[in-house]
Amino acid sequence: MKNSQLLVIFGLFFFGLLHIPTSNASFSTTNPTYNVNLAPFIQRRSAYYCLQNFSSDCPGSFTLTEGGWLNISESATDEFCKGGCVQHTQDVLRCVWYVHQEYTFENGAMLKDINETMRIGCEKGFNGTSLYKSSGTSRATTSASAALYALVFLALFYM
Ligand SMILES: *[C@@H]1O[C@H](CO)[C@@H](O)[C@H](O)[C@H]1NC(C)=O
Ligand SMILES: *[C@@H]1O[C@H](CO)[C@@H](O)[C@H](O)[C@H]1NC(C)=O
Ligand SMILES: *[C@@H]1O[C@H](CO)[C@@H](O)[C@H](O)[C@H]1NC(C)=O
Ligand SMILES: *[C@@H]1O[C@H](CO)[C@@H](O)[C@H](O)[C@H]1NC(C)=O
Repeated sequence: MKNSQLLVIFGLFFFGLLHIPTSNASFSTTNPTYNVNLAPFIQRRSAYYCLQNFSSDCPGSFTLTEGGWLNISESATDEFCKGGCVQHTQDVLRCVWYVHQEYTFENGAMLKDINETMRIGCEKGFNGTSLYKSSGTSRATTSASAALYALVFLALFYM
């Protein structure tokens, strides 16, 4: 890699850092919702810490992970819906929503997919599968970051 390319990457790194508000320079892992409106990679990291909020109400396969599955079987529906796990998972989703509205789980699920899975599951019963493809949801990055990516691409290409 040429030095000029390294410089761009280095610059982008600082571009990311500059998005940290000076009044709140420390990254909060215990209260990820403090980390709002930050650079994309920090948003993802904040979302990760939201998902580290575990509860004894959500044991084993009841736990929502970065994988995005919510493998609640039909027979576990009542336990999931009438115990505290729905509430806890809603809180976790809300936390992620605050820090990263476009958060995508590893299986491709968006926040609303998980939310829908729980809504349908607690209405009609779970069946061991979870939704992971929002129909009609634009996966497109925001125009601002698209422009930034385009710029980076051009910069790297022409150097
Ligand atoms: C949940 O289901 C998915 C897809 O069937 C599977 O890949 C995954 O291992 C399951 N996870 C758990 C914790 O059962
Ligand atoms: C963790 O989950 C609980 C609900 O189980 C919620 O009250 C709390 O606000 C969550 N913490 C964070 C940092 O989101
Ligand atoms: C999940 O859906 C409920 C309504 O069913 C809504 O009130 C809540 O804001 C949604 N949460 C997220 C994170 O989208
Ligand atoms: C199983 O649950 C998923 C998620 O709620 C739903 O989309 C699907 O239609 C269900 N399948 C059956 C056979 O009920």
